[in-house]
Amino acid sequence: MAQRETWSTRTGFILAAVGSAVGLGNIWRFPFAVGDGGGAAFLIVYLAFIALIGFPAILAEFVVGRKTGRNPVGALMEYGGEAWKYVGGVFVFIGIVLLSYYSVIAGWFIRYFLAGFQGSYADHLASYNGEAIEMFFDMTFGMSSVVLHTVFMAATIGIVALGIRQGIELAVKLMVPALIVLLVGLAVWAFTLDGAGAGYAYYLSPDAGTIAENWATLLPAAAGQAFFTLSLGMGVMITYASYLGEDRNLTKDAATIIGFDTGIAFLAGLVVFPVFFSGGIEPGEGGPITIFVSMTEAFANIPGGRVLGLVFFGTVVIGALSSAISLLEVVTAYLIDEKGVDRWKAAGGIGLLIYVIGLPTTYDIIFIELYDGFIDAVLLVFGALMVMILVGWVAPKVAVAELEKGIGDLDGLAQAWIWAIRVPIIIVLVISLYLGIVDY
Ligand code: PHE
Ligand code: NA
Repeated sequence: MAQRETWSTRTGFILAAVGSAVGLGNIWRFPFAVGDGGGAAFLIVYLAFIALIGFPAILAEFVVGRKTGRNPVGALMEYGGEAWKYVGGVFVFIGIVLLSYYSVIAGWFIRYFLAGFQGSYADHLASYNGEAIEMFFDMTFGMSSVVLHTVFMAATIGIVALGIRQGIELAVKLMVPALIVLLVGLAVWAFTLDGAGAGYAYYLSPDAGTIAENWATLLPAAAGQAFFTLSLGMGVMITYASYLGEDRNLTKDAATIIGFDTGIAFLAGLVVFPVFFSGGIEPGEGGPITIFVSMTEAFANIPGGRVLGLVFFGTVVIGALSSAISLLEVVTAYLIDEKGVDRWKAAGGIGLLIYVIGLPTTYDIIFIELYDGFIDAVLLVFGALMVMILVGWVAPKVAVAELEKGIGDLDGLAQAWIWAIRVPIIIVLVISLYLGIVDY
């Protein structure tokens, strides 16, 4: 095997990992997951899940990746033994399917970005009699959806083929701050809307009764969203940590990634729900088009909305790109490490396959719901559960030693991490997985 690349700068890893985490999961998926889950009840379960399970889970993937320095298939095999390569195979499969429709949705954002060049968002709305939902379908499905999926996949393949150093790091440095500034500005504007109060009540004031009553649907939904948004359960964080030196403090890096990711999703909610309530739209009705409806409404009514809209949709496309790259990188790293394929051929060949698998989802939103539901509620939770079993039960001592590199002796904390994984987290994940399968 040739000398493996490592991150070119000390911050390269953290940038790439934040870039992978922050994406459509925060801007596109989170708001409609909250809407599906009935608002604040979902938010609470989700935040608890991120803190209590997402954090230990991201550390587990880091440890496996850095310890082995390999792609998920090789890493799981080296860490757990021969049979674990099949779990790694599932990870590669998840990456392929997830990227196939992720790219199509990213294409919708490109469409909304381009729409800003064609006219103001207010004009677009007016030409559809204010029916933002119709505008959405009209603008995105059919031919343009295929073309945009093609463009997005081509860009993803190009960046991955060039290798991790040149490709990934720069874009993220621009994207994350831009997204935060934009969302904060939009949230301030949303605060001034008539329906803002009702929006905040829906989003932010949970009712313990609702949680208790609906926990069996809230739990798997929150689990799926948490793993999706943090890029967990299919080996991205294993792969990225495999290019990492031993001097990094993994807990700090995990906290940074989770902080940015959760903050950006939360901000997106602060924009979407006031807009929905002020426009008299039912928050649960938007589904996968929630963000497009609310943002078109917003940019149609804000002074300078056309430019802001362009910047917003464009920035989300960059965010999606840095996530898509991480997905393709998992599959590519597998082909390079395990099969000896060269980087260009690996990225191009598998990218083409992913492109084809995504084609049905350009055709009807039903396919998006089908793909996304299965990935999110079932496969990612399964993947995360497997990593937990590996770290908690198969080789916990190795995990503790690896975690403490770059940090020093953690006293009892590392043990607490292992024990949290071993029993309570695994139980919650088994229940989530079961409920997720039943729901699906
Ligand atoms: N975390 C990404 C997002 O929120 C999606 C993703 C999931 C990327 C899994 C890689 C792996 O958009
Ligand atoms: Na995310």
